[in-house]
Amino acid sequence: MGWLEPNLKNPGYTKTQRHAHWWVTALVAGQYLGQNALVAATQRMDAFSTPSFADFLITSYHSLAGLAILVVLVWRWQLRRKNPVLAAGGMQNKSWAVLARAWHLSLYLALVGMALTGVASYYTDITAATQFHAVGKWVLGTLVIGHVLAGLVHWLVFRDQVLQGMLGISRDADTIRSSD
Ligand code: HEM
Ligand code: HEM
Repeated sequence: MGWLEPNLKNPGYTKTQRHAHWWVTALVAGQYLGQNALVAATQRMDAFSTPSFADFLITSYHSLAGLAILVVLVWRWQLRRKNPVLAAGGMQNKSWAVLARAWHLSLYLALVGMALTGVASYYTDITAATQFHAVGKWVLGTLVIGHVLAGLVHWLVFRDQVLQGMLGISRDADTIRSSD
């Protein structure tokens, strides 16, 4: 099944899919909130041969959280294949539906790109990886902001159950599954 052809009989996200989505959200938020501390710690580690324990923790947390995002992402992609979901609740307008699916795919690609350039930047001397990682944060940030705005538009303008479906509080039984 192609990514533009969801299974029409299976419209809702499972509980596991929803939890995985919010875990990724929390981990990504942590990466952004901790970015200043991380950059400062990296600079100190470059300047001094023996890193402080705090700097070791800060950099280790960032790499482990980044790798955890990658693992949850691959798992989510598997869950998606098992339980394909209609993007944007299967909007009637084809262009919006295509945009929603393309946006989700871009989010997946940006996250994988961030994790891989992060690994390359951390474990190798490839400076391009660090540069891509630093530019990637703006690409991912823009995609996430657009994604959150789209969620709000569904709630406030279209007044459908797309946002509620992902929050697990939908009134529409077809857009929510209490279990797998
Ligand atoms: C770093 C933060 C986030 C990332 C990377 C992210 C990524 C994604 C992805 C890739 C999907 C598609 C799921 C799939 O089919 O596999 C999705 C769905 C969704 N996300 Fe997020 N998300 C984030 C944060 C948020 C936030 C803060 C909200 C709340 C406003 C939100 C609301 C939704 C909704 C409502 C859906 C379902 C959309 C639909 O059914 O078409 N997301 N998210
Ligand atoms: C999706 C996952 C990830 C996100 C969202 C993310 C996000 C960020 C952000 C926002 C910065 C600050 C960039 C700047 O201002 O220059 C950064 C820097 C960095 N990240 Fe990540 N990252 C992720 C994964 C990883 C992974 C898996 C690793 C390593 C295993 C890693 C290693 C680094 C390194 C080495 C820096 C550079 C710090 C410096 O500028 O000296 N990242 N990351």
